[in-house]
Amino acid sequence: MSAYDRPAIDAKTLRPRTRLVHGGVLRSPFGETSEALFLTQGFVYNSAEVAEGRFTGEDEGFQYSRFGNPTVAMFEERVALLEGAEAARATATGMAAVTGALMGQVKAGDHIVASSALFGSCLYIVQDLLPRFGVESTLVDGFDLTQWKAALRPNTKTAFLESPTNPGLGVLDIAAIAEIVHSVGATLVVDNVFATPMLQRPLELGADCVVYSATKHIDGQGRCLGGVILGSQVFIETHVHNFLRQTGPAMSPFNAWVLLKGLETLPLRVAQQQANAEKVADFLAGEKNIVRVYYPGRKDHPQHELAQRQMKGGSTMVAFDVAGGKAEAFRMANAFEVIKISNNLGDAKSLVTHPATTTHQRLSEEARAAAGIGPGMLRLSVGLEDVEDLIDDLRRGLAAV
Ligand SMILES: Cc1ncc(COP(=O)(O)O)c(C=O)c1O
Repeated sequence: MSAYDRPAIDAKTLRPRTRLVHGGVLRSPFGETSEALFLTQGFVYNSAEVAEGRFTGEDEGFQYSRFGNPTVAMFEERVALLEGAEAARATATGMAAVTGALMGQVKAGDHIVASSALFGSCLYIVQDLLPRFGVESTLVDGFDLTQWKAALRPNTKTAFLESPTNPGLGVLDIAAIAEIVHSVGATLVVDNVFATPMLQRPLELGADCVVYSATKHIDGQGRCLGGVILGSQVFIETHVHNFLRQTGPAMSPFNAWVLLKGLETLPLRVAQQQANAEKVADFLAGEKNIVRVYYPGRKDHPQHELAQRQMKGGSTMVAFDVAGGKAEAFRMANAFEVIKISNNLGDAKSLVTHPATTTHQRLSEEARAAAGIGPGMLRLSVGLEDVEDLIDDLRRGLAAV
């Protein structure tokens, strides 16, 4: 008897929300309703011949949880079904996913282009880490398509961007950038964390690879770290599979189990968080001590039209500039009672951070200014609370400014 069974129905024939509940299930002979947590490092074989078959690949079963694990495999398949990707590989964190997706593609002598509006650790991979191994990198103003074109070289292997950007919520033209980088045979990797798989589908826009910090909306309740790399079967097998298997940033089966269950409620949570974010953005835009609101769903956003074409909603994140700079932004954040101060995002709890002194502290003042991160900017990850309580809390914060 096989150790597990796939359900009879092909999840690809199901609609997205159903895929998130039933997709990828590997049911054990006990017939459990909730997916099983296979908290095991290794697997035993009925004979030496079976062991040999697992290692030659003739036998499909699992060998060792650094290479693959049934709970992790369920998570990978469910995310792939959601994203419409042929293949997915789970990683220990979002940063492990970014590192694997980029480093797996390049060797000394290659070149990479990236948008300068990147999350700090991603910037480190592109600007500091890759050049140490002989991979040259060029950072461009990701909003300016001519800069992407000008940066390309015959040895450019890959390009990297995030959209909407962290923390400024700028929207980059994924389809146009994909076309540009493909003209020299390079690939495009998109960090889709801010948009979530619910609001933006980079593979359909022409990207070759999508990465997530599953730590964020996919968990959505602040428990586990995780990451995932998605792409075509060929992309994953050529660039990602062996890199992850040999270097070992594997997702823990426990985290995979939590994240797998997180996927079941992802559409509901993102829809509600986004609806709350829209109301929060509109409220803030009407307040005299808020100099500017950054929200792609609003008409006053500089890339609103692009966001409408490229995204299915305006995001669960809102950034805004408080009049009076750092001191007033701190006063506002310190006065919140419902909204918690934290640099994380995508959580059921609303979280606020001051990017200039936390997530983007490492950047020089000029680099922060170039990225549009002013001293008065606060970034708010809008949660699942009653939006009226959030607005009351924002009023409380504004009263302290
Ligand atoms: C845009 C973006 N990419 C990648 C990451 C890294 O994710 P993780 O913390 O899971 O490594 C984060 C958050 O930390 C992020 O905001």
